[in-house]
Amino acid sequence: MVNLGYNELMLKHFVKYYLRASTKYRIHSPFVFDLLKDVIEDDRYYYAFDHLASLRARLLQKNEEIEILDLGAGSRKNSGKRRKISAIAKTSVSPVWQCHFLYRLVHQLQPATILEMGTSLGLSSMHLHFGNQKAAMITLEGSPEIARLAKENFQLLKANIELMEGPFEKTLPESLQKLVKIGLAFIDGHHLKIPTINYFEQILPFCDQDSVLIFDDIYWSDEMAEAWAELKKHPKVTLSIDLFWCGLLFFKEEFKEKQDFTIIPFKYKFWQIGLLK
Ligand SMILES: C[S@@+](CC[C@H](N)C(=O)[O-])C[C@H]1O[C@@H](n2cnc3c(N)ncnc32)[C@H](O)[C@@H]1O
Repeated sequence: MVNLGYNELMLKHFVKYYLRASTKYRIHSPFVFDLLKDVIEDDRYYYAFDHLASLRARLLQKNEEIEILDLGAGSRKNSGKRRKISAIAKTSVSPVWQCHFLYRLVHQLQPATILEMGTSLGLSSMHLHFGNQKAAMITLEGSPEIARLAKENFQLLKANIELMEGPFEKTLPESLQKLVKIGLAFIDGHHLKIPTINYFEQILPFCDQDSVLIFDDIYWSDEMAEAWAELKKHPKVTLSIDLFWCGLLFFKEEFKEKQDFTIIPFKYKFWQIGLLK
């Protein structure tokens, strides 16, 4: 077997994704079509984005170094124990367009509770939170110095988010007990197959018809791709959506037959319209 580098690996998965992906013109599910229209392909700009963009810009300028405690699969780009805040903001947090997607998804679905696994500097957390400020939200982070910075950022933007510090194996059960039900969970840390499947199994009993689970980086490695393939097969999952950078799982019983969609925004496959294949 050939050992592929990270870029080759991503390219391999991207080509497969691209070939099987459909645009909105091939989607016959009204629920998924609405998600495409109002979340995935939506480009409305919200007032909260400005504050979050200024904070991101400030973090990208910070040259102060902090100590990193790596409890997950590590970073492909930075392996040192000390890192500049600017480097974390550049390589370890979700890019702006993904954060906007998270905001819009929460805004559209209005979950009553939000759980995030993997806070980092708190940028994705605050996009999730400002999408529906009424939701009770807990975010989990295992690296103490990073958690301290995230808390400072929450204070700065007056975001009412509870951060639980420690390894997921300890904080996940505690957060689930506190939230009782999971409206939306964003799983963005510890990108390994077995832990990812374990976290899913722990979260599942707290999900209902209206829950959605978002798994980030589903093609970050072959083992994450395997984890995603396994998760979407779970009998409780009635709808899965593969967006390449993340995968969404839904549990609505109204979907009588399990449906797995691979979706790409229309602009990237613009010829896939109407009857043309
Ligand atoms: C990719 S970053 C999260 C990025 C953030 N969600 C965003 O989009 O801005 C993953 C974070 O999860 C944390 N993490 C990874 N594995 C963990 C574990 N087993 N327990 C606790 N925290 C963990 C890391 O310290 C890191 O800050």
